[in-house]
Amino acid sequence: WSTMLPALLLLLGAAVLRGADTLPDQNLLLLPPVNLTIVVAGLARALLRWAPHPDQARQNVTVDYHVRIHGPQEDEYETRSTVSTCVAPLHQGLSASVRAIVRDHGRLQAASRWVSAELEPPPGPPGTAAVNLTCTTNTAAGDGTHAASYQVSLHCAWRAGEAAPADTQYFLYYRFGAETHECREYSRDSLQRNIACWFPRTSIHSKRRDRLAVLVNGSSRLTAIRPLDRLFALHAIDQVNPPRNVTAKVQGARLSIEWQKPVSAFPSHCFDYEVQISDTRKAYVQTEKRTVNAFTSVIDNSSRYCVQARATVSTTCRAAGLWSSWSPPFCV
Ligand SMILES: *[C@@H]1O[C@H](CO)[C@@H](O)[C@H](O)[C@H]1NC(C)=O
Ligand SMILES: *[C@@H]1O[C@H](CO)[C@@H](O)[C@H](O)[C@H]1NC(C)=O
Ligand SMILES: *[C@@H]1O[C@H](CO)[C@@H](O)[C@H](O)[C@H]1NC(C)=O
Ligand SMILES: *[C@@H]1O[C@H](CO)[C@@H](O)[C@H](O)[C@H]1NC(C)=O
Ligand SMILES: *[C@@H]1O[C@H](CO)[C@@H](O)[C@H](O)[C@H]1NC(C)=O
Ligand SMILES: *[C@@H]1O[C@H](CO)[C@@H](O)[C@H](O)[C@H]1NC(C)=O
Repeated sequence: WSTMLPALLLLLGAAVLRGADTLPDQNLLLLPPVNLTIVVAGLARALLRWAPHPDQARQNVTVDYHVRIHGPQEDEYETRSTVSTCVAPLHQGLSASVRAIVRDHGRLQAASRWVSAELEPPPGPPGTAAVNLTCTTNTAAGDGTHAASYQVSLHCAWRAGEAAPADTQYFLYYRFGAETHECREYSRDSLQRNIACWFPRTSIHSKRRDRLAVLVNGSSRLTAIRPLDRLFALHAIDQVNPPRNVTAKVQGARLSIEWQKPVSAFPSHCFDYEVQISDTRKAYVQTEKRTVNAFTSVIDNSSRYCVQARATVSTTCRAAGLWSSWSPPFCV
C-alpha cells in the first residue's frame, strides 16, 4: 500500500484534472456577462448584445447564455451567441436579463447570476399614441406586370389618442421580414389627422409564418407623440376571398353545386368551405361543410334555391383564421 498509494493518488488527480478540462465540476464559478445593451433595430425589433466576462473568457469552458425577456411579452431562450434579436412591440419599452450557463448533455451544471438591462419606452405623454390599431390583408391576382402571381394589400385603421393635440399627424409603417415601408395613402378624420392607411401592394407573403409589424408614430408642435407598434399573425388578419364562380344546376331531384377556390396564394387542398342552400319558398336554410369544390343535395325541384359559399384556409395549411364573406347568391 505504501508504495501504491502515491501512484493511486496520482491517477486520481490526473482523472480529476482531465475532468476539469472537459466537464466543469459542480463548483465551477460562472461569471455573469458584461455590458448588456438593448437597442431598437427596426420596427418591433430590438437587438440585445453582451460580452463574456473578461475573466470567464480566459477559462476554457463553453458557455451558453440564458436570455429572459420580462416584458412586454415574457419569453425565454438559450443561445451560444452574444447577440440576439428580439421581435416584440417596443412602445412600452423592453426589459431583459441574461446569465451565463454551462450545460452538460442538456443538464444545467452551472449558472452565473443574472444581469439586466432596459430599453426605455419612447417619449411622449400617455394618451397621445394612436389607439385601436387594426389591420387586415387581402390577396388579389397579380396584374401581370410584376413577377408575383398574387399581390397582398394591407389596410390599417386607428383612432387618435384622447390626449393628442389637434395638430397631431400620425404616420404608419409596416415591416415584413427585412423590408419596411411607409404608408402613402392615408384617410383622415375631421381634424385632418391620418386615421387609416391603404397599401394596394405590399411585400407580405401570405404563406410565410413571419408576423407583420406595424408602427404608428406621430408628431405635433406641442408635444412628443408616443408611438404605437403591434405584431399581427397573418392568419388572424387575412381577409380570405370568397370562392369564385359558385354555380348550381338542377338535375331531376338533385341540386349540384360547384365552385372554384378563392383568389389566394394557397393551393386548392388548403381550403375548407361552407355551402348555404336556401329554399326560398319554404324559407329554409341548409348549411354544409365541405373540403372539396362540389356538393350535391336532394331537393324538391318545384322550389327555387339560392346557393352561396364561403371559404377559409384550413388548419392543414396554417393556424385557424377568418372565414371569407359569402359569395353572391346564385339562384336556380
Ligand atoms: C480547451 O479545451 C479543448 C477541449 O476540451 C482543448 O482541445 C483545447 O486545447 C483547450 N484549450 C486551451 C487553451 O486549454
Ligand atoms: C464593456 O464596456 C466598457 C465601457 O464601454 C469597455 O471599456 C469594456 O471594454 C467593455 N467590456 C467588454 C468585455 O466588452
Ligand atoms: C378601442 O379599444 C378599447 C380597448 O381595447 C375598447 O374598449 C374600445 O371600445 C375601442 N374603441 C373603438 C372605437 O373601437
Ligand atoms: C416614425 O418611425 C419611422 C420608422 O422608424 C421613422 O423613420 C420616423 O422618423 C418616425 N417619425 C416620427 C415623427 O417619429
Ligand atoms: C367562371 O366560369 C366561367 C364560365 O364557366 C368561366 O368562363 C370563367 O373563366 C370562370 N372563372 C374563373 C375565375 O375560373
Ligand atoms: C323534378 O323531379 C322529378 C322527380 O325526380 C322529375 O320527374 C322531374 O322531371 C323533375 N323536373 C325537372 C324540371 O327537372
